[in-house]
Amino acid sequence: MRHIIESQQFNRALIEKLFALADQLGNGHGTELRGKIMASLFYEPSTRTRFSFESAMMRLGGNVLTTENAKEFSSAAKGETLEDTIKTVNNYADVIVLRHNEEGASKRAAAVSEIPVINAGDGPGQHPTQALLDLYTIAKELGRVDDVRIAFVGDLLHSRTVRSLAYLLGKFTGVHMTLVSPNELRIKDDIKAYLKRHHVSFEETEDLTGAMKTANVVYQNRIQKERFEGTKIFDLVKSFVIDRKLADSMKKGAVILNPLPRVGELLPEVDDSPHAAYFKQMGYGVAIRKALLAHVLS
Ligand code: NCD
Repeated sequence: MRHIIESQQFNRALIEKLFALADQLGNGHGTELRGKIMASLFYEPSTRTRFSFESAMMRLGGNVLTTENAKEFSSAAKGETLEDTIKTVNNYADVIVLRHNEEGASKRAAAVSEIPVINAGDGPGQHPTQALLDLYTIAKELGRVDDVRIAFVGDLLHSRTVRSLAYLLGKFTGVHMTLVSPNELRIKDDIKAYLKRHHVSFEETEDLTGAMKTANVVYQNRIQKERFEGTKIFDLVKSFVIDRKLADSMKKGAVILNPLPRVGELLPEVDDSPHAAYFKQMGYGVAIRKALLAHVLS
């Protein structure tokens, strides 16, 4: 059974296979998954992830069952456990795409599921399918995934997309990570231990200006304000905004990625910069999710 739970489960060969499949499937319409049903079970807000999964399934000829506010509109509101909900959905679908507010929710779901579970974000845990589309974007835009100098910028403590991409990039060679965040929002120790084990060089800094000048990829994510209790968020983030001047200081060919949504950390004046790749990035989501669905259902 092929669950997709965390970035660590992928190896280079599988990533390359999925990228080749994404290239082949693209954004067009086909019949590869005709007769199959995908259930999207979302306990947290989403625009891109849910729609791109559903669009991917439909473009493969499959069907979709969806609840976009599972906390209120599924039996969770009556007090049903996640495990019981998953066992229920097992009767109606061939694959479950799950977004949940609790870290580890996808692992719990997979433990009781007889159909594949795909983690579409588990609280501050991971978001592995986003990491795959981020890496696919890097491959497309830079023409390589090795020897990349990447600056992660923002709320590195709570960002599941940063965590999943850091785990994924650890599988490649010659990667250097500059971890740019306020002191209070530094990346967690599990990632640092993993990077050390995989001999990935990294440094932690508050110097965004310096990092922008040297990176091939700047990966920014908004402050995850839903994961905070009572911290003065505004004070933490005001010096981590990417504006046009910072974008213009980047190396030729370097790109800015952001999983979106953005909420003030990335100014619209950057959108027509040659370095802005975040709208293209979301477009790659369909091809990658088509490849993942085809993979888990094959
Ligand atoms: C991200 C998420 O949900 O973690 N969004 C997404 O899936 N594209 C990033 C975020 O919400 O900041």
